[in-house]
Amino acid sequence: MEELHPDLERVLFSESDMRARVREMGAAITRDYEGKDLVVISILRGAAIFMADLIRQIDLPLEMDFMAVSSYGKRLKARASCVFRRTFRPTSWGRDVLIAEDVIDTGLTLRYLIKNLQSRKPASLSIAALLRKDIPEQADLPCHYLGFACPDEFVVGYGLDYAEKYRNLPYVGALKRSAIAKKA
Ligand code: IMP
Ligand code: MG
Repeated sequence: MEELHPDLERVLFSESDMRARVREMGAAITRDYEGKDLVVISILRGAAIFMADLIRQIDLPLEMDFMAVSSYGKRLKARASCVFRRTFRPTSWGRDVLIAEDVIDTGLTLRYLIKNLQSRKPASLSIAALLRKDIPEQADLPCHYLGFACPDEFVVGYGLDYAEKYRNLPYVGALKRSAIAKKA
């Protein structure tokens, strides 16, 4: 059984919720990418766990790649601009690129990455996000495969962190205000 971490308010998505949903997302991607040249790119570090689970539910040949952008540090919201760190291999030219993102919050990170990857002329570019917060700034952003709509709270677990902690929790939960105050 999952025991709630003392710094968390409540569990939003359990380990089994996640497993079931990621399996459905993988099945949809498998249907859509049959015969294509799929490269799944995850955004380090938050999306690494989602990506690892997702690609094992995609029953097609594929490659994986990683991109890194600036992290939040101990702040709760993205900066006004995003700093691109690195891509490990320039695999996107002419290929069917699927970005695996952990959570779309303000949408700044994704907007930046879409622009960056479009300039490398992929054959197609789609987004798979585990979570999407319900906030108006990013309502126009495309998200082709979505795990769960997420309340506008700061969440951790399943790859998502606060100040690099909690990534290894097997579920996603809302962080207590007191845990944020403690570290800020
Ligand atoms: P955005 O650029 O505001 O959409 O933020 C996207 C990135 O910020 C995600 O890839 C996460 O790494 C991080 N992020 C946004 N919201 C949360 C959260 O609630 N918990 C942990 N990380 C978050
Ligand atoms: Mg991230």
